[in-house]
Amino acid sequence: MSARAQVAHVVDEALEASVVGSFTRLGYVARSRLEKWRDPAFVLGRRVVITGATSGLGLAAAARLARLGAHVHLVGRSETKLTSARAHVQLFTSGEVWTHRCDLSLLNDARDLARELSALSTPVDALVHNAGALLPAYTETREGLETTLATHLLSPYLLTEYLLAHGGLAAHARVITMTSGGMYTERFDLAQLMMTVDAYRGTTAYARAKRAQCVLTPYWQRAHAASGVSFHLVHPGWAATPGLTNGIPLFERAVKPLLRTPDQGADTLVWLVGAPTSEPTGGQLWLDRHPRRLYRLKKTHLSAPEEFQAGEQLASWCDERIARALNEA
Ligand SMILES: NC(=O)c1ccc[n+]([C@@H]2O[C@H](COP(=O)([O-])OP(=O)(O)OC[C@H]3O[C@@H](n4cnc5c(N)ncnc54)[C@H](OP(=O)(O)O)[C@@H]3O)[C@@H](O)[C@H]2O)c1
Repeated sequence: MSARAQVAHVVDEALEASVVGSFTRLGYVARSRLEKWRDPAFVLGRRVVITGATSGLGLAAAARLARLGAHVHLVGRSETKLTSARAHVQLFTSGEVWTHRCDLSLLNDARDLARELSALSTPVDALVHNAGALLPAYTETREGLETTLATHLLSPYLLTEYLLAHGGLAAHARVITMTSGGMYTERFDLAQLMMTVDAYRGTTAYARAKRAQCVLTPYWQRAHAASGVSFHLVHPGWAATPGLTNGIPLFERAVKPLLRTPDQGADTLVWLVGAPTSEPTGGQLWLDRHPRRLYRLKKTHLSAPEEFQAGEQLASWCDERIARALNEA
């Protein structure tokens, strides 16, 4: 290891131990400079689907991927926002930019999107589950599901499983899920996953849904290893986006000078889309182009057998909830 690489490693570890240093722009700036990050090499011509692409990290990722030559599909719930997102992304590419209207809190919408994507002329190379929000008050969708969980967990599950089952993902496709450091506070507990109106707290519902994503991705990696598709989690750090301002305004004000830009928050996602096939091992959590631990607090820790069992149970639970919601519609 060169002296520079050794310094970069020590700095990375120190930042990671400090939490704040790691998650803020300090972490991004130090790591990107010391490690001399470059644009990922294998983006050109890849078909990339990004949910939540009308704002914040999703929009920033879409613009950069388009600039690097990806065929970008923007998924959003508002036609107006999709139109302006497409106009923005088109500034970075002469290629076509597709839009798909889909409210991901609704499983019927997610299934329609899955059908649409499966019918594309070539399969998807990267499916990015980025859409999300921290909702301060309890809301239930017309399909009878708590909105946070439907958006962050059930729709991504449906989309991924449908595309896998219908040949909608390319042989070496990557499925990338945007999680959050909020998940570090919660232990996975299936019985407590779907919050009820009486018990609801926005930050808890958000953290539990994000923790569930961290159980689902390693499950997918195990269950679908033979497909050649790999599954990854990204923690973007703390980035200045409308989502952060609306979801946790006090926190946003407190750390504002240290927040990452949306481009900085989206960097690892973009890197995962275009890194060489040999590089990012599936089933892991990534922050600033390095794999990170899934647990920081002892009380949240699951042993390997517990993780395995949690993944199996979560997948069955998603199957059952989705079937029920679609049949009842
Ligand atoms: N910013 C951070 O520091 C941070 C930290 C950790 C994790 N994250 C995660 O990063 C992801 C992106 O967040 P962001 O910070 O970029 O927030 P953002 O600017 O609010 O972007 C969120 C995107 O998700 C879309 N979305 C939300 N609910 C949806 C639904 N039901 N159907 C379809 N689209 C929906 C939003 O659409 P509308 O524009 O229509 O609302 C928007 O395009 C989220 O998963 C978030 O949890 C962010």
